Amino acid sequence: MLLDVRDLHVEFHTREGVAKAVNGVNYRVDAGETLAVLGESGSGKSVTAQAVMGILDMPPGRITRGQVLFEGRDLLTLKEDERRRVRGAEMAMIFQDALSSLNPVLTVGDQLAEMFTVHRGMSKKDARARAVELMDRVRIPAARERVKQYPHQFSGGMRQRIMIAMAMALEPKLIIADEPTTALDVTVQAQVMDLLAELQREYRMGLILITHDLGVVADVADRIAVMYAGRIVETAPVHDIYKAPAHPYTRGLLDSIPRLDHKGRELYAIKGLPPSLLRIPSGCPFHPRCPMVQDVCRTDVPPLYEVTEPEPQARAERGSACHFWRECLHG
Ligand SMILES: Nc1ncnc2c1ncn2[C@@H]1O[C@H](COP(=O)(O)OP(=O)(O)O)[C@@H](O)[C@H]1O
Ligand SMILES: [Mg+2]
Repeated sequence: MLLDVRDLHVEFHTREGVAKAVNGVNYRVDAGETLAVLGESGSGKSVTAQAVMGILDMPPGRITRGQVLFEGRDLLTLKEDERRRVRGAEMAMIFQDALSSLNPVLTVGDQLAEMFTVHRGMSKKDARARAVELMDRVRIPAARERVKQYPHQFSGGMRQRIMIAMAMALEPKLIIADEPTTALDVTVQAQVMDLLAELQREYRMGLILITHDLGVVADVADRIAVMYAGRIVETAPVHDIYKAPAHPYTRGLLDSIPRLDHKGRELYAIKGLPPSLLRIPSGCPFHPRCPMVQDVCRTDVPPLYEVTEPEPQARAERGSACHFWRECLHG
């Protein structure tokens, strides 16, 4: 087990009150495995990732409970200098917006080379050669020339490749990619996603792919964790979820993906909006929007039930936080 996040809770103390952004999240990632974390905006995906990476803004953020076990070691108990060593060398993050993550006044070559001079003690010349290699590896054409350019001289897709190269530089065991292709247009999205998946396989890294778009994960993810109001409401191997979701929220997300075979048909949209994390609804937090809602859903918080159907041997763990997961699965 590479990463094992246990019962993670994160709050933000704001002027309006306490926002309960993460409420008991559990997830695991093995070496060579891709976990997609899915959910509408505001469901706590990024905050969970920031807590795992150790880059959460504290304050206003506060981790009130839980563990982040990385190769068995709880990162939440490490001192900041030990934490910094883990970050970059062992785990790295890719963000949506490369332009604000890269340094605008340094050439991309200098930024890539710095990874090797600072963390690996390489000479400038060797580091520069490695920077060119990396740019080749993420398939940036004319790497030898372009290494001398600044971030703003690259297109959005090429900048995302540079950020992937930065994240890969020290060959980390885990990469967290937070909406890495959201800002790109559809064709470029697919290319960048393919590149990321290819590198992940080649280096047998663990990958957490955060996205609000179920459409992009089908081909690359092994498992999916669906988040709602700071909780995981369904987790399953990717194919099981596509075949039959065991949570009405997942069903809603699936039904709202544009599909070629449904061309011309109107897209379904989940009614209403995700709740404010300052005031999470009672019972099941999804109940005000749920088409299958029953009385019990308004009062009783569903635990993450083990989904044991259709295959009772449950070869891969599957869970749903819906009192009526069976009805949903067969519905
Ligand atoms: N810096 C912050 N200050 C206060 N609240 C925050 C902050 N960052 C996140 N939050 C709260 O956490 C919630 C979840 O945020 P986030 O994890 O970014 O959602 P997602 O990535 O799923 O779109 C936000 O809706 C907000 O209530
Ligand atoms: Mg986010």
